Amino acid sequence: MGGAGWLRVAAAAGCAAVTCALATAMVARRVVAWRRWLRAMAVLRDVEESFATPTERLQRVVNSLAVEMFAGLASEDASKVRMLLTCVDSLPDGSEEGIYYAVDIGGTGFRFLKVQLGPGSTIINQKIERQPVKKELMEGTSEDFFNSIASTLKNFIEREGDEGRALGFTFSFPVRQFSITSGSLIRWTKEFSIEDAIGQDVAQCLNEALERNGLNLKVNALMNNTVGTLALGHYYDEDTIAAVIIGAGTNACYIERNEAITKCQCLLTNSGQTVVNVEWGSFRPPQIPLTPYDICFYNETTNYYDQGFEKMISGVYLGEIARLVFHKMAQESDVFGTDVDGLAIPFILSTPCLAAIREDDSLDLKEVGSILEEQLKIHNVPLKTRRLVQRVCDIITQRAARLAAAGIVAILQKLGRDGTLCGTTRVRSMTGVPKRSAIAIDGCLYKEYSVFREYLNEAVLEILGEEIAATVVLKVVEEGSGMGAALIAATYSSTRNNSI
Ligand code: BGC
Repeated sequence: MGGAGWLRVAAAAGCAAVTCALATAMVARRVVAWRRWLRAMAVLRDVEESFATPTERLQRVVNSLAVEMFAGLASEDASKVRMLLTCVDSLPDGSEEGIYYAVDIGGTGFRFLKVQLGPGSTIINQKIERQPVKKELMEGTSEDFFNSIASTLKNFIEREGDEGRALGFTFSFPVRQFSITSGSLIRWTKEFSIEDAIGQDVAQCLNEALERNGLNLKVNALMNNTVGTLALGHYYDEDTIAAVIIGAGTNACYIERNEAITKCQCLLTNSGQTVVNVEWGSFRPPQIPLTPYDICFYNETTNYYDQGFEKMISGVYLGEIARLVFHKMAQESDVFGTDVDGLAIPFILSTPCLAAIREDDSLDLKEVGSILEEQLKIHNVPLKTRRLVQRVCDIITQRAARLAAAGIVAILQKLGRDGTLCGTTRVRSMTGVPKRSAIAIDGCLYKEYSVFREYLNEAVLEILGEEIAATVVLKVVEEGSGMGAALIAATYSSTRNNSI
């Protein structure tokens, strides 16, 4: 071989070596990327396992909650669920008439309502105004909070005309009621923290603010939002025995026989029954493992290490749980790239965004990509990561919906309507068929998030079985909490009847 030949061989060998080195580097990079992806997948697998709620586990959650409910009826502070007596023993029956106002203070906003009732369960007219609640009011003073409500109500009444005299007040936090028109705030939930209001009579606070604002009006029915929802449900369907809220927060109430309320031996009501506000948000199901995301959450939110059920189910929290999972994935891998500061901001991902991610059914998950860009400032997320994101939102939704379903079945069990003999006596109609049980539901998670609703309905069927599930009707009751407040105001301002 001549000199030129050797040169060609050397050049070819050099090229081969460079190509080989490049290929090795590429393979090494791919291996690293693949390992990182596997780390993200390991987080996913862990989330899948720890958020799992197989039927048998749910059934045990049902039993535990039913036991807590019995304990809460036996004595104060004996249970994680407060089982608060609402002083409501009469529900509207359709005969109410006249014009009523209501103020509904919930998780995300204030609502002001004027409702005109006609005979035969007819709502002739209704006017509703909504106002989002400002963060500074949620954390400020009691006087500012109630003043803001009173002055907005005043403007509303001035615009609407001053005909109505009775005012229903829905206050969606745990309150120990002394009467239908009074009750003291036990604690704030849903990240409200107006410290000086705790222990105060919230109806009186509103009455004083109404007076300061020159309004000649007083609260004549104070209630929880579950109770308002029950009232509206019952107005249209007499088989309504309970109401559930699944929105910013979560809770339920139901109609209980007075003799079952053993902590209050001499409870006398016209109907022999009382509506009990379960306050199930503070239940902590022992069968459901607390994941690192729940624990972290327990530390960083108000009601430290409390409100477990609510923090696993409701709208204030689900988006944040997802954010915590994504943050963990970003720490373990580079699936979100390197610019992931957005993921470190608490509560940056709202639950409506989580719902939109889960419900994106486009092939390229375009909506998921836009939410990651706009809310979390994470750009150009590849499709396989978008799929991962969607899967995480699905898992979180599923656990939440299935736990809410377990809550509903626990109430049925407590009332002996779940087909088992775990509750009180099994409730059957004269023909031996289990009685029809209607449950009124309000709250945006159930109403507006169809995947959540489907998971919940599916789990109720799974736990109860087909025969009993066929006797249970879950009914969406629009604006139940506010409309129901007007209805109860009407019930309690007219001649009382004797039945619930
Ligand atoms: C409150 C309940 C309320 C529920 C739904 C919870 O945080 O403690 O009183 O009914 O939210 O709004």
